[in-house]
Amino acid sequence: MLRAMNKLISIHDIDIKGKKVFIRVDFNVPMEGAKITDDRRIEAAVPTIEYVLDQGCSIVLASHMGRPDGKVVPELSLAPIAARLAEILDHKVEFVAEAVGPEVQTIVSKLKPGHIVMLENLRFYPDEEKNGIEFGRELASFADIYVDDAFACVHRAHASIVAIPAMLPHAAGLLVEEEFHTLHDLLEKPQEPFVAIIGGAKVADKFELLDHLLGLVQTLVIGGAMANTFLLAEGHDVGKSICEPDLAERVKEFIAKAKTAGVELVIPTDVVVATEIKASVPKRTVAVGDIAKDDLALDLGPDTVQAISSVLAGAKTIFWNGTLGYTELEAFAVASSEVADAIITSDAKSIIGGGDTSGFLDQYSRPDKFSFISTGGGAALELLAGKELPGIAALQN
Ligand code: 3PG
Repeated sequence: MLRAMNKLISIHDIDIKGKKVFIRVDFNVPMEGAKITDDRRIEAAVPTIEYVLDQGCSIVLASHMGRPDGKVVPELSLAPIAARLAEILDHKVEFVAEAVGPEVQTIVSKLKPGHIVMLENLRFYPDEEKNGIEFGRELASFADIYVDDAFACVHRAHASIVAIPAMLPHAAGLLVEEEFHTLHDLLEKPQEPFVAIIGGAKVADKFELLDHLLGLVQTLVIGGAMANTFLLAEGHDVGKSICEPDLAERVKEFIAKAKTAGVELVIPTDVVVATEIKASVPKRTVAVGDIAKDDLALDLGPDTVQAISSVLAGAKTIFWNGTLGYTELEAFAVASSEVADAIITSDAKSIIGGGDTSGFLDQYSRPDKFSFISTGGGAALELLAGKELPGIAALQN
């Protein structure tokens, strides 16, 4: 199905000169109080905003932030984001403390070329997530053209993602185009050997992705806490490690499926353990058969990292989602860090998906060393799981 669906309407395909353009962005960025701790998603939308300004347009920008559940949560206001965007663009960004209503209507009706207005958090309104048609209609009334540059949100059938493009001429922004084509190429024409590294905490959320990857990759590396469920499925005692025992049977079936598909599965042979998740508690490296009942597996061991590195050395395409250990503590970030180095030194095209992984790489100042870092977490994974995404479908017709 996806093969027939690989073309998006591009912002370059439509005439936007001098028009009022509604741009849906994803400025759902991590914050500590009013401080933005990672503004990559804001930076990523700048090329589209600048392109639209260059076409003599005015802009209505809209985003969500967090999960306020249809209520006004002042800490999730987009006011600080509008201020940061103005700094990045070196251009005035007028923030409106609502997303719909008479005040917004008056402001947008007076927009002149070059003006940028940023609306308040769309998720302060229950109709955003409910894909409310009237809410979508009012947002659509603010502009002549709709542009979606919110890649991280294309898996959500929300009003600002699917209702507005059904009402206005529409196109994908430059970020959505780049993200979609880069990830879609992994589904269609990855250079082989293609190695996927999947880590993170939970296998429950990732079965669809893992199943789909079996049809795409030559090698699948499993790390992070979800590897503990794989160890359990292989009959190992994992002590007090985070794992999902109720999924062990399903993982067993998956391991068998991988074998039948001829996909090499790399799961840990050794792990780094501690009896508590604390930097001050001594850590030990043990073979996976020797995890004691009080142990928590918190990182991959050196033999496992060595096995992963040798697979990566021969790879032509690498996709990495999910850190491989408890990277919040530097003591357990060793495998993730060494695997990042192995990716960098390989000749492979490297694509990183997911906020935790990109956050980890930012922390280690290495983001520029990878071919592509997706701004999408769930969206990137659902795309690679072969799902039809509502926000993408809306930009294809
Ligand atoms: C994300 O951070 O993945 C996107 O902004 C989507 O957020 P959501 O999972 O709350 O819809």
